[in-house]
Amino acid sequence: MIDLKPGSFFENVELSEDEKEIIIIDQVQLPNDEVYLHLNQLEDLYQAIKKLQIRGAPAIGIFAGYSMYVLTQQYDNLPFEQFYQKFTEDKEYLNSSRPTAVNLPWALNRIDKVVLENKDKDVKEIVRLIGLEAKEIHREDKEMCLKICEYGLTLLEDGDGVLTICNTGPLATSRGTAIGPLILGKQRGYDFKVFANETRPLLQGARLTTLELQKAGVDVTLICDSMASIVMKNGWINVCFVGCDRIAANGDFANKIGTSTLAILAKHYGIPIYSLGPTSTIDMNCPDGNHIEIELRDPSEIAEKWYQQPMAPKKVKCYNPAFDVTEHSLLTGFVTEKGIVYPPFDVNLKKLFEE
Ligand code: MRU
Repeated sequence: MIDLKPGSFFENVELSEDEKEIIIIDQVQLPNDEVYLHLNQLEDLYQAIKKLQIRGAPAIGIFAGYSMYVLTQQYDNLPFEQFYQKFTEDKEYLNSSRPTAVNLPWALNRIDKVVLENKDKDVKEIVRLIGLEAKEIHREDKEMCLKICEYGLTLLEDGDGVLTICNTGPLATSRGTAIGPLILGKQRGYDFKVFANETRPLLQGARLTTLELQKAGVDVTLICDSMASIVMKNGWINVCFVGCDRIAANGDFANKIGTSTLAILAKHYGIPIYSLGPTSTIDMNCPDGNHIEIELRDPSEIAEKWYQQPMAPKKVKCYNPAFDVTEHSLLTGFVTEKGIVYPPFDVNLKKLFEE
């Protein structure tokens, strides 16, 4: 399944042939082991998101849609009232797995809408329609990613140095957002020099971005998060491309912890910084970054993980936010499937939904 030769893509989320299970590659075990998980139980689906076996805002949304499809097939013999009660409990439980990426509630709400709009139909028919909606969310994401890749590529020149953080490739989205244009550019003969922040503490940059870019034949250099300033100062970075987990109406956006550091550095060195993501990541109900809930994760991810022995004293206090918010004033633009959005973001993001 994982085949990233230039010109090829792989599926990060798939339905089994009988559509009763979701198949994902366990991203926690990459790059060392390619292990596929077949999931259809609520707790396993919840844990897959929580533990980051599936991760990246758009991929979480796609996975959530399919989760409701495989789950509801297991109780499609219930009368509607009972069916909807169970559906709502499952949906709310999945929605509580991670708070920051808006794509999770966005996808679940789309599925909920399908159920309510068809509540007079037979429950088996409702479940079939849930399946169609989940597939549509997936199809749309592929289409949106490909457009984002095209728009993103217009911002790049052959030979550019690009700094990125976390993982925004085909593992995290259907076809890639922030690193999608780099893979597309390679297919078209461009040579970029990409610097990937390792992305402490879960190392999505070191483990996943370097893997995807290596497989796609893109020149990639791994750096520690604390090295971003020196590579910018050295003149090696022409542009920063980062993802997004929730974009507020004023243009503040949450993305992997460390993104705001890159934006502050980029401003200091006069380097443009773009956030690339589908419009499903824009939350017009969220006025600004202060209203974005930041996920706090287990301290052991900082103090123990990746080390043969814990590398910090037992019970040391840790602060482990998974995301941070970048203020809109630091960003050059958002690259969406509908085009590139420049400031003033409060005006121009709104326009995306008026067309
Ligand atoms: O904690 P993660 O790995 O899910 O965080 C992912 C990111 O921050 C990505 O940049 C974001 O979800 C966009 S994915 C295209």
